[in-house]
Amino acid sequence: MKGIILAGGQATRLRPLTLVTNKHLLPVYDKPMIYYPLLTLANAGIKDIMVISGKGHAGHFLELLRSGDEFGVRLSYGVQEEAGGIAQALALCKDFSDEEKIAVILGDNIFEKNVAKKAVNDFEKQEKGAKIFIKEVPDPERFGVAEINRDKIMGIEEKPNKPKGSMAVVGLYMYDNQVWNVIENLKPSGRGELEITDVNNFYIDQGIMTYEVLDGLWTDAGTFDSLYRANKIVAERNNQ
Ligand code: G1P
Repeated sequence: MKGIILAGGQATRLRPLTLVTNKHLLPVYDKPMIYYPLLTLANAGIKDIMVISGKGHAGHFLELLRSGDEFGVRLSYGVQEEAGGIAQALALCKDFSDEEKIAVILGDNIFEKNVAKKAVNDFEKQEKGAKIFIKEVPDPERFGVAEINRDKIMGIEEKPNKPKGSMAVVGLYMYDNQVWNVIENLKPSGRGELEITDVNNFYIDQGIMTYEVLDGLWTDAGTFDSLYRANKIVAERNNQ
């Protein structure tokens, strides 16, 4: 399985921190933010990883992470010329994937535990389809929200005003190689972006999406509050 880290976007919600620096290079306790998703994939045994960043900052990622040797992985880099959504950034990795399954992680997602290892193994065995992770949160309207009915996933709504439940879809996704076709056929959403939620809903509609409820603490780090929470999670984990 190949790994993909998506580290594009403007991060307007973190201004002025992100006026000059890229969000994924900001500190989370004792490391730059992007180290965490990179280590999540590396610790799951994924050796080949592509990092997608926005223009303007791509060189910083290369300087920081270089070949990936330090992490025991091989890194490739791609540049998203314009912010057009998570699924558009993902589309840049088609050739890199080389028809293998992929594990995609958002560059601002911080996991307390090594969640990806078992999931990667399980997904290697899954004949086809996709896999996502969900987690109960107090503020579901900030996320993709999964509607679960009798343990079955019915659909996902992206940042709904009236969430159908409190289970957020976290930023770790696994796909088979159909994903490239799915993205090619996506239409931009109301905010003009190719949404990862629409990719996930395709797999749900086909009945080939599996999900797991995430074990351990998790947060994104795209707002001041969640960045603060990410720092706390890591500090407490390190000092245990
Ligand atoms: C993205 C996804 C959303 C998901 C979240 C997880 O939102 O669109 O479905 O729940 O990541 O971090 P964003 O943080 O880009 O607004």
